[in-house]
Amino acid sequence: MKDIKLSRRAFVKASSASLAALSLPTILSGRTNESPASVPGPAPAQPAPPDSIANAWEAGSADSFTRYYFDTLMVETRYMDADLPSTKLELFGQTFDTPIMTAALSHQNNRNVKGMVVYAQAAANCNAVHWMGMGEDQELEEIVATGAKTVKIVKPHENNDEVFRKIRHAESVGCFAVGMDIDHPFNGRGGYDVVYGLPMKPKSTEEMKSFVKATRLPFIVKGVLSVHDARRCMEAGVAGIVLSHHGGRVKYSIPPLMALEQIADVVKGKMKIFVDCGIVSGMDAYKCLALGADAVSVGRHLMPLISQGVEQVERRMKAMTAELAGVMSATGVKSLKDFDPTVIHRTIL
Ligand SMILES: Cc1cc2nc3c(=O)[nH]c(=O)nc-3n(C[C@H](O)[C@H](O)[C@H](O)COP(=O)(O)O)c2cc1C
Repeated sequence: MKDIKLSRRAFVKASSASLAALSLPTILSGRTNESPASVPGPAPAQPAPPDSIANAWEAGSADSFTRYYFDTLMVETRYMDADLPSTKLELFGQTFDTPIMTAALSHQNNRNVKGMVVYAQAAANCNAVHWMGMGEDQELEEIVATGAKTVKIVKPHENNDEVFRKIRHAESVGCFAVGMDIDHPFNGRGGYDVVYGLPMKPKSTEEMKSFVKATRLPFIVKGVLSVHDARRCMEAGVAGIVLSHHGGRVKYSIPPLMALEQIADVVKGKMKIFVDCGIVSGMDAYKCLALGADAVSVGRHLMPLISQGVEQVERRMKAMTAELAGVMSATGVKSLKDFDPTVIHRTIL
C-alpha cells in the first residue's frame, strides 16, 4: 500500500490509529459510507440516540469496523498505457470468468424452496467458484449437479469421524475443493459451540494435517485472521485460507482486509488467499485483490436476491465483476496478475 511502508509494529500502530479516528456515532449509525467521521466543525446531525447503544447497534460490531476500513482506502488512477482488463481467474487448474465468488452460506431454503441450489446455479452461470457451508449430503449433491465448481466447507465437528466422512463425501460427489471453518468451535460464552445440535471442537495443527492428507482435493481453511493461524495452516499443508471473521462472530475482530497485507507477506504465494466479510461492490473486491487476495466471496449482499431467483443473483454477480473491471481499467491493471498495492492509499476519514 502506498505511503506507509509498514513494519509489523508500524502496521498495527497505523491500523489502530485509523480505527481510533472513527467517530463513534458514525459507526453506531452503520452509515460509514455516507458520513465522514472526523471532519472539522460540528459533527453531522445524527438520528435520535437509541434507548441504549447496546440495543441499537452492538458495540464492537466487526461488520461496522470492516465497512469503515474498506472506506478508508482510496485508489489512485493510472490511465497512461492502460487498457480493458481481463477478470479471468486461474485457480487449482481451472479457469473462471471472475474472482468474485459466492460465500460459504447455509440454510437458505427458507428464502426460496431450493435457495442453496439457486445460489449455486447463479455461480455456475457466471463461471464463478461456488462455496457451500453447513448442509446435508443430499443438498451438496444437488448443488454440485448445477455444474457449479463447489468448495465444501465442513464444520469443525467434535467427532473427527464425521469430518472425514464429509470430506470423503465432498470428494465422491465431485467438489472442486473442500475445507473447514475453524472459527466456529466456541460459543462465545466460555464453552464449545453446538451448531444445529452438533458439537464442535477447535482443531490442532496435527488434526488439520490429517484432514489435508485425507483428500486429493485442495483443502482450505476458513476463518483465518492472524499470522499465527496462517503459519499453522502452511505447516499443515493447506492449499488456501479464507480471511474472514464469519460475519462478526467475535466483536472487535479486525477487518480481514486489515490482516491481509501482513498475512500475504508471510504466505508469499504458498497458499491461495481468499477474503470475505462485507464485500458489496466491485470496488471492495478490487481493494482486496490489490492488497494480496487471489479471490473474494460475497454472502449477505447476495442473500436477499436468492429468493428472487437465479437471474437476480447472477445479474448482481456479473454487475460486481463489471464494477471490478471498471476500476481495473482506470488503475492500469490488465489482469489479476497485475494488481499493484501501491495504487491504494490509506486515508483517515
Ligand atoms: C445465513 C448464513 C449462513 C452461514 N453459514 C456458514 C457455514 O455454514 N459455514 C461457513 O463457513 N460460513 C457460514 N457463513 C458465513 C459466510 O460464509 C461468510 O463468512 C460471512 O457471511 C461473511 O461474508 P459476507 O459479509 O459477504 O456475508 C454463513 C453466513 C450466513 C449469513
